[in-house]
Amino acid sequence: MAEPWKTSITSIKPNELRVRGYDIAELMGTTSFGAVVYLTIMGELPSAPVGKLMDGIMVSSVDHGPTPPSALAARTVASTGAALSQAVAAGIMSINESHGGAIENCARQLKRISERAKTEGVDLQTAAAHEIVELKAKNVRMSGFGHRIHTADPRTAALLKLVKEAGAVGGAVGGVGIHVETALAVEGAFTDAGKNLPLNVDGTIGAILADLGFPYEVMNGIFMIARCVGLVAHVAEEQNTQRRMRAIDPINHTYVGPEPRSI
Ligand code: LMR
Repeated sequence: MAEPWKTSITSIKPNELRVRGYDIAELMGTTSFGAVVYLTIMGELPSAPVGKLMDGIMVSSVDHGPTPPSALAARTVASTGAALSQAVAAGIMSINESHGGAIENCARQLKRISERAKTEGVDLQTAAAHEIVELKAKNVRMSGFGHRIHTADPRTAALLKLVKEAGAVGGAVGGVGIHVETALAVEGAFTDAGKNLPLNVDGTIGAILADLGFPYEVMNGIFMIARCVGLVAHVAEEQNTQRRMRAIDPINHTYVGPEPRSI
């Protein structure tokens, strides 16, 4: 028999299931979903504050109403009578460079700026200003800044608060630091250039995940994991309350859910 191929994510045998060595039954009810996402992808459990930060990331990206392309795509496919998996998959397929996918791009750009600061011997904001000028000349957007709806994305402020609580450095694997610092320097460079392009939720998540040492290729997946929640809700609502194959107006909708309330 050929040598078996290897996996180091989950071991299964009858009546026992271990993710990265941890008994799933033990994780259930003791470890938050964000911490288990970190464990599954990174291989180790995070420190408590990093676990809380991961939870914050998950919650921040759960849903953004019916206008993002992923929700519209999922609802459009749902309106044909498609199965839940098909409609949610359509939503996931629309998560790319300009929607949800700014996370990976932004993380890569922040890395380049922080390296540039070192090689040019300048501070982060100066390096950011140089990068912005170069990107503009090449007609390339800096990912993760500005938002078509929010001028002060509430998710950014809440995530930055959790970053502070997690500490400037630390965490079981990697730390929180240079990429978040660089993201704030880019925001400052935009302000200096007279542009109101605040750090948005994608940019914040990209900076945090880079500081935590996540590989670039999984970063947008973190957004997808979270957004699946909202997509399932959109598909169910579309199929339960709307007629088939309606022309879905991307803008003209009214929220009829609960009034604002607190936990
Ligand atoms: C989202 O979380 O989907 C939004 O920030 C994207 C958008 O521009 O609506």
